Amino acid sequence: MSRTPVDVRAEGAVSPQAMSGYLAQFSEDPGYLNFASYGTPSRQVVGESQRLMELAAVGADSTTQLHSMDNRAIAAASRLSGFAHSSISLVPSTSHGLFQFAFGLTGGEVLVGAAEFPANLYPWWRAQEAGRITVRLMDAGQHAASGWPFVTPELIRAHLTDAITAVSVSAVDFRTGFRADLPAIREVIGDRLLIVDGIQGFGVADMPWTAADALVVGGQKWLRAGWGCGFLALSDRGLERLENTLGGWTGVHSPTQYDGLEHAPADGARRFSITNGSPFASGGLASGLELVESVGVPSLEKRIADRTTRLIESLRSSGVALGSPPEPNRRAGIVVARSTGAPAGRVHGQLAAAGITTTLHAPDRIRLSLHATTTDTAIDEASSILKGLS
Ligand SMILES: Cc1ncc(COP(=O)(O)O)c(C=O)c1O
Repeated sequence: MSRTPVDVRAEGAVSPQAMSGYLAQFSEDPGYLNFASYGTPSRQVVGESQRLMELAAVGADSTTQLHSMDNRAIAAASRLSGFAHSSISLVPSTSHGLFQFAFGLTGGEVLVGAAEFPANLYPWWRAQEAGRITVRLMDAGQHAASGWPFVTPELIRAHLTDAITAVSVSAVDFRTGFRADLPAIREVIGDRLLIVDGIQGFGVADMPWTAADALVVGGQKWLRAGWGCGFLALSDRGLERLENTLGGWTGVHSPTQYDGLEHAPADGARRFSITNGSPFASGGLASGLELVESVGVPSLEKRIADRTTRLIESLRSSGVALGSPPEPNRRAGIVVARSTGAPAGRVHGQLAAAGITTTLHAPDRIRLSLHATTTDTAIDEASSILKGLS
C-alpha cells in the first residue's frame, strides 16, 4: 500500500534566544557544506570531551566521573528517539551497531538496498559468510524511472518473500538524500524486523524512530558530536529476536564479579555492549544530543529545509539537474547537483578553490549537505559556481 510520506513539521517553534544560543555553539568555516560527511562539533562537545580528558589526566574516579557519561548520553538518546532507556546501548560507530544486528539474527534472509552505504552492506555479507543469514540485495535501479535508487515501500514490497525475516534501510540515503517512509515500510513488512541506519537523519529529521526494531545512529555527522560515539536502540521485538552473539564482558549480569564464569546476558540492550566505551566520546555524544534538545528537532528540520529549498530553487533556476528529491518531505539535509555539461570534478575543484567544501560523489554528481548553521551567502556562492554543471 502506498502512502504519502511523513510531512515535514513546520511547527518548529523555538525562542529566538534558544536558537541564537544553539547557533553560537558553532564555529565552522562558512563554506563548510559537507555535514553528510561529518558534522563540525559544537563548542560544548569540544569542551566536554576536553574536560573529561583533563579529569582522566588527574586520575578522577572512573565510575562516578567518567563512565557516568554513558547514562547521560543514553538518557538524551532515549528522549530524542522515543525508545526506553533500557532499550538503548552505546556504540562507537554506526558500523558497530549494524554488526551487532547482523550477527544477532538467527537465520532467514535480510533484504537490503544494493545502493546502501557500504557500512550497511558488509555486516550482512560477513554474517552470511559466517553461515548465520542469507543476504538479498534489492536492485533499486529496477523501480525508479528517474534512475534514483530510492528505497520505497513499493520497492520493498516487490522484493518480499516468506524467507525474508529482516529489512535494513537507511533513514536518509547517503547518496541521494532520499528520506525513507518508515511507518509505510513498517506496514509493508509486517512482523519482520525493521533495521534502520539513522546516521544521515537523526537529530535533524523529525522521523518516527520507534517504527524501527533496531536503530543505530553514529554521532559524527548531523549530531555534530564527533567521531567514536553513537547508540543503538531496540524495540521489544528486536530485543526478543536478536541474539547477543557479539556481546562482551560488559554486556552481562555482574560484569565486575571476576569469577571466570560465563554470566547471563544483561537485561535490555546492554547485552550488546562489548566493553567500556570512551567517556570522552560519551560526554561528546551527550552534549551533542542535549544541544539538539535545546532547540528541538522540528526547528532544526525547518531551518535545514529552508536552506535546502533555497539551494534547490537556485539550482533549478539556472538549469542544474538534481540528483536528490526536490520535495521537502522526501529529503533532509542532502542536496545533489548533477552534471549535464562540464565534468563535476572541475566544478568541485572550483568550489574548493572558493573555500566551499562538498563531496564529489561520482564523475557527474556533487553532494552538498547543509545544516542549521549554513548561511545564505554560502548557499548563493555555491549555487553560482554550480551553474557550471548545466
Ligand atoms: C548511511 C551511512 N551509514 C553509515 C556510515 C558510516 O558510519 P560509521 O562510520 O559510523 O560506521 C555512513 C558514512 O558516511 C553513512 O552515510
